[in-house]
Amino acid sequence: MMNQKIRWGILATGGIAHVFAADLKLLENAELVAVGSRSPENAEKFANDFDIPLRFGSYEELAACSEVDAVYIATPHPFHKENAILCLNAGKAVLCEKPFAMNAIEAREMIAAARANNVFLMEAMWVRFTPLFQKVKSWLKDELIGDVRYLQSDFGFRSDKGFESRVFNPNLGGGALLDVGVYPISFASYVFDRQPATIKTSGYFGKSGVDEQGSFIFEYDSNKTASIFSANTLETKRESIIFGTNGFIHIYGPWNQLRHACITIGDKEIIEEFPLLGRGYTYQAIEVMDCLAKGKTESDILTLDETLTIMETMDSIRAQWNFKYPME
Ligand SMILES: NC(=O)c1ccc[n+]([C@@H]2O[C@H](COP(=O)([O-])OP(=O)(O)OC[C@H]3O[C@@H](n4cnc5c(N)ncnc54)[C@H](OP(=O)(O)O)[C@@H]3O)[C@@H](O)[C@H]2O)c1
Repeated sequence: MMNQKIRWGILATGGIAHVFAADLKLLENAELVAVGSRSPENAEKFANDFDIPLRFGSYEELAACSEVDAVYIATPHPFHKENAILCLNAGKAVLCEKPFAMNAIEAREMIAAARANNVFLMEAMWVRFTPLFQKVKSWLKDELIGDVRYLQSDFGFRSDKGFESRVFNPNLGGGALLDVGVYPISFASYVFDRQPATIKTSGYFGKSGVDEQGSFIFEYDSNKTASIFSANTLETKRESIIFGTNGFIHIYGPWNQLRHACITIGDKEIIEEFPLLGRGYTYQAIEVMDCLAKGKTESDILTLDETLTIMETMDSIRAQWNFKYPME
């Protein structure tokens, strides 16, 4: 596929599918050729909005389409496994929305399908691929702030959607942990390069039966810890601060407008701006296309093993809460 355009299909036509489609249109080597929806009308409308030639009234037809190289999966999380495996078994490269799956059991099945078919698979943890996150990683590798000891990271938003929406409905994977807690938890994995040895949690459950708030203390070593918060009923600052023995790095939120970070070493403060290409979902698509051009079946920036261990961390939080979804 070297130097070739990658032909993309989008599976589902909801909120984030619209954002990703618009970003994909900004990339020269990406061609948005197809969309699949449960409803022919939604497929038609989405295709017309984004000038997409092929539109299908089922996900199966999209997966079977020989003119598609890579599929972006944008259904609610309980359907990620089924939708991803459908596409992987059809030989398509897959970029699957976060959270990758409902739990680690599902994630393992998806990874096994990718490996059995020898095709590309990656979690769409889009922030990981942005220039800001890449720069933060290089600051950490160069030990600019010394030995990293503590991370503080939160993602809380106040949803005005009803209990039937995917934000609150347990049948659609509702709950703050899987929806937004995954961002700071994935970031902790990025910063410490491993999962915590112990986790202390507290969770608050709302009327629909899903977690509306969660606080987490991650301990890696006795002097390496993270404090994480997620919520879907209140706004938080959506910031991350990494504290090291020589200084700290402050990433200003919210997560969906990552544009600048500040590194403070002693009394020296450097603020770096990172303008985003589009809404920033472009970088994960670029990573997929770079990997495909190189014949790789997974990304080094976010490996499938890391995605799996992040799912395991979220499983162990839910086990402490004794919280299972109806489909589990
Ligand atoms: N990366 C990010 O920044 C970001 C932001 C928001 C959401 N997400 C993730 O993306 C996924 C989708 O979120 P969203 O906000 O786009 O959701 P949404 O607006 O509700 O759209 C989901 C789409 O999935 C399809 N779908 C299939 N089965 C469904 C069912 N039983 N109920 C409802 N929809 C169903 C529908 O498309 P068709 O009718 O066309 O089949 C629907 O439009 C979630 O996993 C979420 O965590 C990521």
